[in-house]
Amino acid sequence: MIAVFGSINLDLVVSLPRLPAPGETIVGPDHQSFAGGKGANQALAAARAGARVRMIGAVGQDAHAGPALANLEAAGVDLSGVRRLDGTTGLAMIGVAANGENQIMCASGVNARVAADWLEGELSSEVLLVLQRELRAEPIRDAVARARAAGARVLLNAAPSGDADLASLLDDVDIVVANEIEAAELGCARGAAGDASVEALCAALGGTGRLCVVTLGARGLVACKGADVWRVAAPRIDVVDTTGAGDAFVGGFAAALDRGADVARALCEGTAAGALACTATGAQTASPDAGAIADLADTLVCDDARAG
Ligand code: RIB
Repeated sequence: MIAVFGSINLDLVVSLPRLPAPGETIVGPDHQSFAGGKGANQALAAARAGARVRMIGAVGQDAHAGPALANLEAAGVDLSGVRRLDGTTGLAMIGVAANGENQIMCASGVNARVAADWLEGELSSEVLLVLQRELRAEPIRDAVARARAAGARVLLNAAPSGDADLASLLDDVDIVVANEIEAAELGCARGAAGDASVEALCAALGGTGRLCVVTLGARGLVACKGADVWRVAAPRIDVVDTTGAGDAFVGGFAAALDRGADVARALCEGTAAGALACTATGAQTASPDAGAIADLADTLVCDDARAG
């Protein structure tokens, strides 16, 4: 069972010829709205990958709340832990360039009022708790402490970057997933050299009891736990929109771990989920089902340099 403690947003997306520089205006043809938020995207990805998922978070009592939850409802995610608060649903304004790269500005809305005591009764040794850093730092810290006390496993996705202070949390999580920017930020906070290689950062963030995964976009990923190292090359895909690719990785990876897959298979399934999620506009639109993930994961090779 996976419990996702995180953000729920509505995404307003504009396709652009290229992303604007600071102070610049770029005009696109139209906008589209999609369900989003790192927490919700990860919950959806895990559910589509076949896991039983409960979402703990908040939406407002505005017109964005229903569309923000629609995909989660359709995928059978348990929304009994989602509160409807007086205020506005989280909102992300996203520019997507012709090459699939994005730029995201986020307004937290009621995500800023999510509290860790909403996890009361949700955590046990059967649960994999999945968190990101789009909520405030205090409830994230509190949620990790509660998970530890309840014997739940914890997967922390270090996205988005910007709060190196949370690096101290790593000692209390079982799995950390970071992209290169987030890994560098966390690595520096933990004393790694500023020019450390991805492998060195991964090793610095992992530990004998902690698996660290550093995602590298089109270059795949590297993962470390103690002296064990795994590498997966990303499949070639036609990229339309990279928004939510990291979330789809986390959801697919968590779903595989939750059903007992070994690390190598879980990394391949996460990589497949992240790649397939890039094939349509919108963070959740192309989040793949278990069959599509398995088919693509079967074609991937996990280079496994295990120590023991
Ligand atoms: O990771 C992508 C997500 O980041 C978007 O869906 C947006 O809502 C922001 O939270």
